[in-house]
Amino acid sequence: MKEVKIIGIGSGIPDNIMTNDDLSKIVDTSDEWITTRTGIKERRISKGENTSDLAAKAVMKALKMSDTKPEEIDMIILSTSSPDALSPSTACFVQDKIGAVNASCFDISAACSGFVYALRIGAQFIKTGECKKVLVIGAEVLSKITDWTDRSTCVLFGDGAGAAVLAESDEKGVSSIFTGAQGNKAGYLGITCVPVKNPLVKPEEIENIKLHMDGKEVFRFASSIVIEAIDKVLKDSGLTMDDIKYVIPHQANVRIIEYAVKKLKAPEGKFYINLDKYGNTSAASIPIALAEMNEKGLIKKGDKLILVAFGAGFTWSACLVEWNI
Ligand code: ACO
Repeated sequence: MKEVKIIGIGSGIPDNIMTNDDLSKIVDTSDEWITTRTGIKERRISKGENTSDLAAKAVMKALKMSDTKPEEIDMIILSTSSPDALSPSTACFVQDKIGAVNASCFDISAACSGFVYALRIGAQFIKTGECKKVLVIGAEVLSKITDWTDRSTCVLFGDGAGAAVLAESDEKGVSSIFTGAQGNKAGYLGITCVPVKNPLVKPEEIENIKLHMDGKEVFRFASSIVIEAIDKVLKDSGLTMDDIKYVIPHQANVRIIEYAVKKLKAPEGKFYINLDKYGNTSAASIPIALAEMNEKGLIKKGDKLILVAFGAGFTWSACLVEWNI
């Protein structure tokens, strides 16, 4: 089996900033409420760019960083809860935008855990020798499906995309990848979407596409699974928290992250946080954070990172990344 590493990373973020004060003009909320409950100060909201547009932006940066031509890409795996269309896949739109003519393309649905799920799939294709270079993308335009009249959810989310180029390698890269799900908790968080063309369904019985969440249940699940998942990666890799330069958690809520930091007795700053600037960008949050850390020069060759995510399903995912670029 071959080793697999990340050779390029990039983000695609809309320019338009929506602050908590901007939101307080749309729904009955305040900067104080949002900041103390979530840590979010502002988020990016797309003005017309779709999920594939943001994804393509992220991919172009990741390709440039890794000196990879679009034609070298064998597969595009895109995780999203807000695709351009139900069919074809958003990965196909990205393929067309970047000219990756030799790639197989598909989307996966694993909500906020999706980037690491996609990483696991991409890594398998490379390990078995089926593919040499795979694009793994997390991309969302959640503003399309946000209920802008529901103050308990619309303050949480933002738009953005992140992409990584995976390649076979002699050095260690992505390992100890775990993914899981608890489908019995599916009702606590999701996006309802009912087909509208069934002649047997009356129009008044049709729900609009809508995001719904039981915040307390999500909090309960997230705060315990983050700790469990990090423990699993550490045990599997024979490492301790001292060996890890950064943990990059899914950026949902600063209180979930603070809970994990406390329980794991991790030093200040070991968990990377940028949700204050972007809100919760679901599948995009981890690759956006990775791209930002790379741009800031925070991660150096040989650094060991843990990625950990949780989301609707409920789903969860985590892995070890050795930064060997
Ligand atoms: N502004 C002002 N007041 C609000 C707002 C708002 N935006 N939203 C809700 N409220 C009010 C409620 O109406 C309620 O008022 P009431 O007491 O008069 O009825 C009060 O604030 C408390 O509401 P709760 O829902 O109990 O608020 P809670 O303290 O649970 O905080 C939150 C809500 C922040 C969502 C919390 O449940 C949480 O952190 N959950 C974790 C889930 C999460 O982060 N999800 C992110 C997306 S999911 C994911 O990424 C996997």
